[in-house]
Amino acid sequence: MLPKRRRSRVGHPDGAAAGSAQPPARFPDVAVYLAEPRMGRSRRAFLTRLALSKGFRVLDTYSSAVTHVVMEKTSAEEAVCWQGRVAAADPCRPCPVLLDISWFTESMAAGQPVPVERRHQLGMAEPRSGSPSPARVPIYACQRPTPLMHHNTILSEALETLAEAAGFEGSEGRLLSFRRAASVLRALPGPVMALSQLQGLPHFGEHSRRVVQELLQHGTCEEVERVRHSERYRTMQLFTQVFGIGVKTANRWYQEGLRTLDELQEQPQRLTQQQKAGLQHFQDLSTPVGRPDAEALQRLVEEAVGQALPGATVTLAGGFRRGKLQGHDVDLLISHPEEGQEAGLLPRVVLHLQNQGLVLYHQHQSSRLGSPAHLARQSCTMDAFERSFCIFRLPQPPRAAAEGPPKPWRAVRVDLVVVPWSQFPFALLGWTGSQLFERELRRFSRKEKGLCLNSHGLFDPEQKMVFHVASEEDIFKHLGLEYLPPEQRNA
Ligand code: UTP
Ligand code: MN
Repeated sequence: MLPKRRRSRVGHPDGAAAGSAQPPARFPDVAVYLAEPRMGRSRRAFLTRLALSKGFRVLDTYSSAVTHVVMEKTSAEEAVCWQGRVAAADPCRPCPVLLDISWFTESMAAGQPVPVERRHQLGMAEPRSGSPSPARVPIYACQRPTPLMHHNTILSEALETLAEAAGFEGSEGRLLSFRRAASVLRALPGPVMALSQLQGLPHFGEHSRRVVQELLQHGTCEEVERVRHSERYRTMQLFTQVFGIGVKTANRWYQEGLRTLDELQEQPQRLTQQQKAGLQHFQDLSTPVGRPDAEALQRLVEEAVGQALPGATVTLAGGFRRGKLQGHDVDLLISHPEEGQEAGLLPRVVLHLQNQGLVLYHQHQSSRLGSPAHLARQSCTMDAFERSFCIFRLPQPPRAAAEGPPKPWRAVRVDLVVVPWSQFPFALLGWTGSQLFERELRRFSRKEKGLCLNSHGLFDPEQKMVFHVASEEDIFKHLGLEYLPPEQRNA
């Protein structure tokens, strides 16, 4: 029996909860019906709330308005049978598409309906047999593929919130525990629907397990909700979102009683140039950068680089290389196949871009490169490449009138990183992320192989030897790991 207060929070799937108080649907062409038989009521209520929160239209009862029927743990035969019964009730009704839960979870993760593929369609799928065997998940994130779209969005987002909050309190250990547990969920082949499915999974401590249990039972977790609404979390999130403000600074200002960006603006003498620029362009910089913008930026930089040094290369790294459709910045690596040619290139590139009016802010940081052996040994996470922290003024394509007033340009955060060719595979691996993936890869190298890995190289401290590689694949091979393409590094 649930405590009364909690029971009241669980929406009734057949009641008005899903139907009445819905915000306007963002995807008018899609009307989802969650078919209950194998789903269970609380699971259905939970999924309904999730879909509504993402702007989907979810219909409580089956009607001709339904476009997408979503089923869980249902075989193709059962699905077709179900459709037969429904169609028999009204033979004139057009049949909606019958979908496996994978379409639903991928759409939730994407924040929009993903295109229906054959593998999503129940009528097309191979009949399933038995219940899924418990997932076997290796300990290190670099030992397992982690796709961008996964099946446990709400659970992993809750744990990520707790990780972030722990980071704000300076609890590195707790941050890592929550983040690792969240990452395990992202690597699972299907949705977690019962606590027993966590059995044997690495990195699931008492606390993370409790959070998952509460979410499975009630659809929300009190602790997570409390954190999300707390003044502390909200303010720290706001401050650290500003370009140039880290956790330590944000915390100091919070302790002094500062709460809003306006209050920060009122103390310009305390702000660095970087923070001033961050505040000035806050609105734009806190709006996600889309892939088309990232690619347009890459082309602009390519053009400038090509002018400054023919033959030089520009590579898009970061989340976009992992397949993300949006990011908070654009990470570009600049190199040249003839080592040494890249020296002095960056100032020329930036000048070229400035002359075109494309740079709103930039801060140059000289290379702190010593010998590769020396660098491979350094354990700090910050690398020593020459780089420029920029804010670009990116021209925007004209918009249709319906999309609002025209916006001639937007500000975008860009990191330009200059990499000597021989270190390029390491830099590419390091700058592709995700952050947790990199962290785990380095920990794996150290703990399991006794090797030191960073964005400059791979070093054997015993043999005092640096490995020479031609590609990311080579690095995985040296570490005895199966190669994971960027799209599978979303740990
Ligand atoms: P980002 O912070 O840009 O993350 O770092 P991201 O994955 O691209 O995510 P969004 O979409 O922008 O928010 C990208 C990678 O570059 C590494 C990070 O560790 C991460 O793996 N990085 C970042 C460095 O190696 N050095 C840095 O100074 C900054
Ligand atoms: Mn990035």
